[in-house]
Amino acid sequence: MSTNAVQIRDLTRHVGESVTLRGWIARKRSSGKIKFLVVRDGTGLLQCVASAKDVDAELFEFLGTPTLESSVEVEGVVREDKRSPGGVELTLQALRVLHLAEEYPIQPKEHGVDFLFDKRHLYMRSRTPQAVLRVRNEVIQACRDFFYERDFVLIDSPILTPAACEGTTTLFETDYFGENAFLAQSGQLYLEPACMAFGKVYCFGPTFRAEKSKTRRHLTEFWMIEPEVAFLELPGLLELGEQFVSYIVSRVLDRCRDQLDFLERDITKLEAIRAPFPRLTYDEASKILTTEDSQAQMREAGAPLFEHGSDFGGFDETILTAKFDKPVMVTHWPAEIKAFYMQPDADDPSKALCVDMLAPEGYGEIIGGSQRVHDHDLLLSRIEQHGLPVEAFQWYLDIRRYGTVPHSGFGMGIERCVTWICGIPHLREAIPYPRQIHRLYP
Ligand code: 4AD
Ligand code: MG
Repeated sequence: MSTNAVQIRDLTRHVGESVTLRGWIARKRSSGKIKFLVVRDGTGLLQCVASAKDVDAELFEFLGTPTLESSVEVEGVVREDKRSPGGVELTLQALRVLHLAEEYPIQPKEHGVDFLFDKRHLYMRSRTPQAVLRVRNEVIQACRDFFYERDFVLIDSPILTPAACEGTTTLFETDYFGENAFLAQSGQLYLEPACMAFGKVYCFGPTFRAEKSKTRRHLTEFWMIEPEVAFLELPGLLELGEQFVSYIVSRVLDRCRDQLDFLERDITKLEAIRAPFPRLTYDEASKILTTEDSQAQMREAGAPLFEHGSDFGGFDETILTAKFDKPVMVTHWPAEIKAFYMQPDADDPSKALCVDMLAPEGYGEIIGGSQRVHDHDLLLSRIEQHGLPVEAFQWYLDIRRYGTVPHSGFGMGIERCVTWICGIPHLREAIPYPRQIHRLYP
């Protein structure tokens, strides 16, 4: 077999030519005198047609044999066909079955979600996962390009770590040759030193949170992209965040239109995503959430009533973001409900110089970030207040001993971003093999 066989995506350039293609049988149907095979090769779908009067009887008979998802090689002439999905179809001349599939468990009917994800290794072949995972691919490439084009240096952070970054309640613990090690919740602590070395850095990798709740927004293993910049303060961080997200959305609009169309995503909603994004302080957001009207909505939905000083629940985020057609950046949160490393606001030290970016249409938090505490003694007292082991943080405190400067960064969960851009209801669809409290298989 040659490696440069034609791909379905490129067939419009081969109209009138005879080509050979390899793929899998996605669908088949027969109307007596005409047989249709729809072949999938990962780049698209191709309808292959044979009519009894044009092909020999033996081949015509044989076209009925391959089962769904059998791997095949087809040969035929490419014809323009405006009604076909890719604009072309194939007039079949030959078919070879490479492997005759056993009865395929995913049939063209409705299956339950649990069933589909038990069969994720096969479900990937279906059209919705194909569309979503291609958008994911584009989002990730856009993230990398964005930082590369702006001279950020990629610094890979470790996955096995001696200490917590985002609170001790969601740590996955492992036995590291008799010592405790934790799966990384974030690469941030390792990026801060790196930005003092390179100026602008980012990391991108899997992160782990032992989230015991089962929600559509939480995975136990997810991918996070995190920039960190020396001499950057909160206002600059907000600009970086809105530039970043606008760039990603425009790349997906540019290069994944077919996928978005297949997912029936409302494109106009994405076209509106252009910097600048609205900014709200926590107190301003809290005012919106405590109006009569908002509280009535919460009561009606049976959601917990928001109280000033607390974190936002899913429904609070929905109410807030419904007021904007762009992501909204909520800043200056009460320091006590945020992470130990966040720099206090000089004007009101009870508030942290931080940001949560909330996606529109009820998708909730996609980015969390802050300016970091850069004073040694303040950071030390924060580590102690949070009951974290000071010894394990000595290296991190070092950054505040040798030429400390203000610096800031954020993290964006790739799956949160993909879920929002695709307009799908659940994060599990946005990662190839989701890990959730009740899912470790396949
Ligand atoms: O807000 P978080 O917890 O922030 C951090 O981890 C910082 N250390 C990042 C930084 O400043 N470098 O998480 C950042 C983002 C969230 O906004 C969300 O998009 C995603 O990570 N995220 C999750 N995604 C899926 N499942 C979960 N359980 C997630 N928890 C956070
Ligand atoms: Mg957060």
